[in-house]
Amino acid sequence: MKNYNIAVIAGDGTGPEVIREAVKVLDAAGRKFDLKLNYTPYDLGGERYLRTQETLPDSVVEELRKFPAILLGAIGHPGVKPGILEKGILLRLRFELEQYINLRPVKLYDQRFCPLKDKKPEDIDFVVVRENNEGLYTGSGGFVFKGTPHEIAIQESVNTRRGVERCVRFAFELAAKRRGGKPWKGLKPEDVSAGKTAQLTLCGKTNVLTYAFDLWERAFHEAGKKDFPTVKREYAHVDATTMWFVKNPEWFDVIVTDNMFGDIITDLGAMVQGGMGIAAGGNINPRGASMFEPIGGSAPKYTGQGVINPLAAICAGQMMLDFLGERRAARPAHAPGAHAVHQRGGRARLTWDAKDYPEAVVKDPRSGEVVAVGESGKLDVAAPGRDLDVLFSDGLHTVEQDVKVK
Ligand code: IPM
Ligand code: MN
Repeated sequence: MKNYNIAVIAGDGTGPEVIREAVKVLDAAGRKFDLKLNYTPYDLGGERYLRTQETLPDSVVEELRKFPAILLGAIGHPGVKPGILEKGILLRLRFELEQYINLRPVKLYDQRFCPLKDKKPEDIDFVVVRENNEGLYTGSGGFVFKGTPHEIAIQESVNTRRGVERCVRFAFELAAKRRGGKPWKGLKPEDVSAGKTAQLTLCGKTNVLTYAFDLWERAFHEAGKKDFPTVKREYAHVDATTMWFVKNPEWFDVIVTDNMFGDIITDLGAMVQGGMGIAAGGNINPRGASMFEPIGGSAPKYTGQGVINPLAAICAGQMMLDFLGERRAARPAHAPGAHAVHQRGGRARLTWDAKDYPEAVVKDPRSGEVVAVGESGKLDVAAPGRDLDVLFSDGLHTVEQDVKVK
């Protein structure tokens, strides 16, 4: 049995009640897939601050650093001045644990959740990769002549080559592997014949932020051109992005953007997928302690009423399992139930449950090259061996399976 130590910061407001539900689901997945999750609760948030004037002791940061993953409910308390808890706990953890990616999938699970007319689950299925350590969030800036009529307030956007580049590279990698190499349905035929399988949109404001997004644009195209030939590069201004989220959400596959734009567009993303109670996110350090959270905040007005949808917290737990490498446990209810049967001429017929996993990608077990793709639940492939190496995907999650040919 595999063991994982998970730090839990239930936090403020509705955080504890939604985390309680997420833990139930995680434990159920653990029982089914032979995993043991050991939770260590941390009392951080507004109540503790009001009691002790402490936000996040240094020693706690050092303890949290040692966990592979942290599950966070919400931070924010009406009795505490805005900024103290956000900067002192949430942003400090994002920065000090170098969680430089904020991964926010936007997926419509059911048409009835969607406030947009005529948009269906297949139209709203994209991922925002938000830079999570820089931009306007570093706290760089200050006042001059504070409190006088000549007062100046400066808030600087910090964009480092290293920070921008690691973020765009993460986004390219995600785009390239999101459907296991099967072309994204929004691509044009000429893109597909040119070998593209995914699209990454840089969301910025190159027409006004001519320094910051100049760097972003150069880093984006340089990395993409050099190392990600299968990913089509697109650009959209942030204001246009908000318009298209509403009008044409099907235009997006993966989006990469800076910290502040990512903050704003993902709240809109949460609305088009059905509300803050559904949207989950991961603060990711690919090599360190990563932190998963429902992105809706502490909702003090609704605390204790049991009216906040725990799905976002449950999906945050799911993202955590995915991050820990427990792909099967991350999608327990949806095992694709695949079978393969020998056909004449050295071929095999693969069938699977296409409702949960519409797409299947069959790879050559030796070279790893894609040999066949399909999405109707039925696929005939050349079967050189006794096993088929298949990647099933729902556009966000992939499950790899060796399917025996019988
Ligand atoms: C979020 C939140 C935070 C942010 C706040 C609470 C500091 O809005 O996670 O999106 O701006 O990043
Ligand atoms: Mn936000």
